[in-house]
Amino acid sequence: MFESPNELNIARKEHKHLSFSAGIYYCLGGQAAKLEIEVAFNCLCDKFKQPRLQEEPVWRKNSNMHGMEMLMIAI
Ligand code: HEM
Repeated sequence: MFESPNELNIARKEHKHLSFSAGIYYCLGGQAAKLEIEVAFNCLCDKFKQPRLQEEPVWRKNSNMHGMEMLMIAI
């Protein structure tokens, strides 16, 4: 579905993902969760001059709930 799906790219333009499900089951907290991560990334960028990936993220080996296990950021 997405180009380089396992690459952490916070500037992706494609939004047709199913992270918050879809239709009548769409996550009720989806907007709050997206706002929270936006605020978190803004705080990170405000606090540190140029945060960047130190190494590739470690992804959880769980096909039910995809996500990162570890994200190393150099500041
Ligand atoms: C990154 C954070 C989150 C992710 C990835 C996420 C993901 C999901 C997914 C995939 C579903 C659909 C489950 C299904 O189809 O059975 C769902 C449903 C739901 N989520 Fe979230 N969620 C997140 C955060 C939150 C938060 C912060 C809240 C509440 C404050 C919340 C409240 C709900 C509720 C109430 C439903 C059930 C909606 C319904 O069936 O009508 N979620 N979420």
